[in-house]
Amino acid sequence: MSISSSEKPRNILVTSALPYANGPIHLGHMLEYVQSDIWVRFLKLEGHNCYYVCADDAHGTAIMLHAEALNTSPETLIADVKREHETDFKDFLIHFDQYHSTHSDENQYFATLIYERNRDNGHIFTKSVTQLYDPEKQMFLADRYVKGDCPKCGASDQYGDNCEICGATYLPNDLKNPKSSVSGATPISKASEQLFFDISRFQPMLEHWLNSDALQPEVANKLKEWLRTGLKPWDISRQAPYFGFEVPDKPGTYFYVWLDAPVGYIASFKRLCQQNPNINFDAYWSSNTDTKSYELYHFIGKDIVNFHGLFWPAMLSGAEFRLPTALFAHGFVTVNGKKMSKSRGTFIKARTYLNHLAPEYLRYYFAAKLTDGVDDIDLNLEDFAIRVNSDLVGKYINIASRCAGFISKHFKGYLAKEINQPQLLATLEQAAKPITQYYKQREFAKAIRDIMALADHVNQYIDQQAPWQLIKSEETKNSVQGICTTGLNAFKLLTLYLKPVLPKTAAAVEDFLNCDELNWENYNILLLNHKINRFKPLIQRIDPKKIEAIVDESKSTANIKSKSKPLENNASLDQPICPNIEYDTFAQVDLRVVKIIKANTIAGADKLLELTLDLGDKTTRRVFAGIKKAYQPEQLEGKLTVMVANLKPRKMKFGLSEGMVLAAGPGGEEIFLLSLDSGAKPGMRIK
Ligand code: MSP
Ligand code: ZN
Repeated sequence: MSISSSEKPRNILVTSALPYANGPIHLGHMLEYVQSDIWVRFLKLEGHNCYYVCADDAHGTAIMLHAEALNTSPETLIADVKREHETDFKDFLIHFDQYHSTHSDENQYFATLIYERNRDNGHIFTKSVTQLYDPEKQMFLADRYVKGDCPKCGASDQYGDNCEICGATYLPNDLKNPKSSVSGATPISKASEQLFFDISRFQPMLEHWLNSDALQPEVANKLKEWLRTGLKPWDISRQAPYFGFEVPDKPGTYFYVWLDAPVGYIASFKRLCQQNPNINFDAYWSSNTDTKSYELYHFIGKDIVNFHGLFWPAMLSGAEFRLPTALFAHGFVTVNGKKMSKSRGTFIKARTYLNHLAPEYLRYYFAAKLTDGVDDIDLNLEDFAIRVNSDLVGKYINIASRCAGFISKHFKGYLAKEINQPQLLATLEQAAKPITQYYKQREFAKAIRDIMALADHVNQYIDQQAPWQLIKSEETKNSVQGICTTGLNAFKLLTLYLKPVLPKTAAAVEDFLNCDELNWENYNILLLNHKINRFKPLIQRIDPKKIEAIVDESKSTANIKSKSKPLENNASLDQPICPNIEYDTFAQVDLRVVKIIKANTIAGADKLLELTLDLGDKTTRRVFAGIKKAYQPEQLEGKLTVMVANLKPRKMKFGLSEGMVLAAGPGGEEIFLLSLDSGAKPGMRIK
């Protein structure tokens, strides 16, 4: 009997958001893939036709420039990254039925089809737009590729849309001394004709969609706010040079990466269907399919709900495709209560984690915290080790290790002909209903809570029976076989309950119990008068040293910026790529060792510190440095660093800044000031 025998097998297609092909998978991403994978494994175990597809998101300016900076082609870059992503997923036991790329024939076909159908249905128009243009590199510049002086406070090196120093917002055209971060050239304004998707035509359809139960309430509410403020046409094209698909009827114009990215779901599934002709592609995607019989779910992070909750359904409906059954958004991973950070060593790549720990620990920890909501999820590293050790090793595996030895040693590996405590197993079997409900509703934390309560229960039973006492006397010895048979049958059930989360351990348990693959068909078949194999420890305790090693490794790789190892360099593409300069230009920079003799905060400045620098020649300079988020002032006093001594003094809101200290990093808390050993003396010049 199947636990859900009342239910007919469902046809379900599940996707996870497509990771960008320009950097490694990290533990933040992994939350989403673990969440979807657990859900899919559960549905498959229940006997449904469930397919799980994903792909790399391979297009866009960032990838194009990244490849260029590495002296390689975008095709080579995305192929390398895809291989790494696939290995990371496999090693985290994420099982996709298909893993594809948005840079594929299938995706070009469907992106074009969706565009053409929307165009033919009148949802697309062209309009001339004026944007900043890099005359040297001959490309249009998105805001983040333009930097200049803030029009309000004069701070240098500010992005095209807002000032990090004074907080002003403005248009890229207002920047003073604007420079392209791609080539260093001064951008000009240039008009071009762009394609727009007129999403406002979908207002009624989207209202209906947002009021259906396809979205979590918090997501629907957020999107309704957008709808109330009015939907602006969406610019779906980019001019060459661009890495993407050329618009068929507009040479030199490309689809914007977010147009073809979600189409990647369709493309990946199409690829799966090509390999498995018995899967009916149209049944899952056509607008005239029975959406109740063919379900479609997208797992996504809360940062991309607008693309999936507004643009995507509008594009699909404008192109006569069906709508998703539901979107499942999740929150963000924080580590030790804070945003993942390279300097703290908590920006942990999937690979770094795997270098030290087995994947199932993290799968378990995430499962133990996941709900159906969008709250952020904290990976507290100390709690992680404690929780895994106490639950998985101390409660779950402990049952097997307490029972197995007696069976092997005293009963030739045979389980008893009957269990001695049917009531205990009945309790465990009854729990299957709520546990499967929780899995189905993506309330994994509740499922885990119930499973661990059952494990406690089984351990109490073994405590009460005390087989280690009974084995000592000939009269009671035989009852030990029944007790351990009860314990091991309970362990078998708990293993099935945990199987979506711990697929590898479950396979090892099937081996140890010498039984069929555990599923919901055979879940209440007892193992009696049955030979089991020798028990080997199935899950080891987490040694906290391993966690320290992960953090240390994350810290050290965060500071390495190597061109030959692109994937180590996650800061990657949002960073400006600087033009090459001649040595003579560099030689004009007067670099000097200085000692920070004073560091002060400034009232009203949340990014700047005021530094007083000793130049060793009895002179001092005052410099404002944007490193407040990264350093406590008192940490800096007495430190030796390097300054640019001949930078033109710059008038800033808080006074004159007479030079610059050398620091680098992506920004915010992650700015690293160059720090010299104590042998250096203020005044030394850099040669
Ligand atoms: N390429 C787009 C998605 C296109 S889908 C058609 C993208 N890629 S991403 O690599 O930035 O993120 C992939 C998924 O990982 C997204 O759902 C995103 O929300 C999720 N996460 C990325 N960082 C995360 C955390 N720190 N925590 C949880 N999820 C996070 O967005
Ligand atoms: Zn400013």
